Amino acid sequence: MPTDSIPPPVAALFPARGIRERVDDRLTRALADAAERVLDGPVMPDIDMPELRRELATFDFAQPRPLEELLDWAIGKLEHGTVHMTHPRYFGLFNPPANFPSQCADRISGAFNPQLASSGSSPAPVALEQHVIRAIALRAGLPAESAGHFTTAGSEANYTALICALTRADARFADEGVRAFSGPVAMYTSRECQPAWHKIAHQAGIGRAALRLIATDGTGRMDARALAEAVREDRRRGTVPVLISATAGTTGAGMVDPLEPCATIARENNVWYHVDAAWGGAALCSDRLRGELAGIELADSLTIDAHKWLATTMGCGMFIAREPEILSEAFRVGAEFMPSSATSIDPYLNSMQWSRRFMGLRLFLSLAAAGWPGYGEHVERAVQVIECVKARLLARGWSIPNDSRLAVLCALPPAGSAAVREIVRKVLASGRAWVAVAKLEGRDVVRICATHGEIAVADVDELVAALEAAR
Ligand SMILES: Cc1ncc(COP(=O)(O)O)c(C=O)c1O
Repeated sequence: MPTDSIPPPVAALFPARGIRERVDDRLTRALADAAERVLDGPVMPDIDMPELRRELATFDFAQPRPLEELLDWAIGKLEHGTVHMTHPRYFGLFNPPANFPSQCADRISGAFNPQLASSGSSPAPVALEQHVIRAIALRAGLPAESAGHFTTAGSEANYTALICALTRADARFADEGVRAFSGPVAMYTSRECQPAWHKIAHQAGIGRAALRLIATDGTGRMDARALAEAVREDRRRGTVPVLISATAGTTGAGMVDPLEPCATIARENNVWYHVDAAWGGAALCSDRLRGELAGIELADSLTIDAHKWLATTMGCGMFIAREPEILSEAFRVGAEFMPSSATSIDPYLNSMQWSRRFMGLRLFLSLAAAGWPGYGEHVERAVQVIECVKARLLARGWSIPNDSRLAVLCALPPAGSAAVREIVRKVLASGRAWVAVAKLEGRDVVRICATHGEIAVADVDELVAALEAAR
């Protein structure tokens, strides 16, 4: 190989500025056009999957293909090959269409591609993330010393809570794992919890059997008396309780566990108290609704996902701790090659991830652009959408078994209707709207969530018409 020259960059990967700008502009317009077409089409995917597999088989990557063709191809596949969370009649899981400032954030962080592992390499992004995390912590009523970090999602944040709880319960956990404890350990959440907790217990090495699913009170909230009893019984048997996780906005029904009584039980038993507000935490933005989360300020740690009700791009979870020193203990590591090793600051010393995308810019720009008032309106609007759906369904003889004041509705059809699963199947098949089957207190319900920030009255009417036609 010659040593006095280097070949030019690979143009397919690093095109010249003029080409980038042209492709970028075209992409911006193509995406806006696709977004409009999505609104006129079905919420459900209508792609021909055998045909897609045949097309994929032609991608043997032996020869390069023109990027612009590839971009059009990819947009087409997403336009027809996904359930459209960007459709205002997606009354679905906690997957919102992404707000615009967060999409801008992704472009910026994609272009600069900062490495968020350390403050040495990304001083400004790390400071900006810490700033927005602290703002959320203060909004939740946690003390000024609280801190945390952005996570890939709510599951990582909840996993982090368990690792912190174990580390605080016995410092020897760091070296000895669960062998450090005098008996088997246990963690507690309600049977309406988000099911990732089962995987978390498995991954953390405490085992799935260590997860205690506490009974609910008939309305979908954790029964605090059953919780106290379960902790007492475990202690009597020599089991070591390490974590209580209350949910503020359950996945199925948007219910808020009794946060203050759960905090008291945790304090009395010297157990880490976590509040999983992955979705419901957004209610903190609204002065009218934040009271629904009273007691959240008592938590040792919180999970709040910006990619749920705060509508940033995926995935943008947050883990916030009242006493963040535990994070430095739980994720302590030495690495001489890193550009910095600031114990309480560097993300690689305080979180599970190492290489990290600049996730926090999504929430920073969204919150800065909308302010608390804008986000408050966004959240209140969703609650109003659900009130509209509720009023229409009640007027048609449906019943509503959840009394959440957040933006999830569980609905049961009038007597004599088809089964809930059949109704949901027909609604999805119609392509008119997207709703889910959920279980509330052991019963199938139609779950309707206002995740989209632009739902209009006509969308509510169409949803109700689709439900009525399906029952
Ligand atoms: C209450 C709750 N906690 C945690 C999660 C998991 O979050 P993620 O899907 O971001 O991992 C969810 C997901 O819906 C949830 O509803």
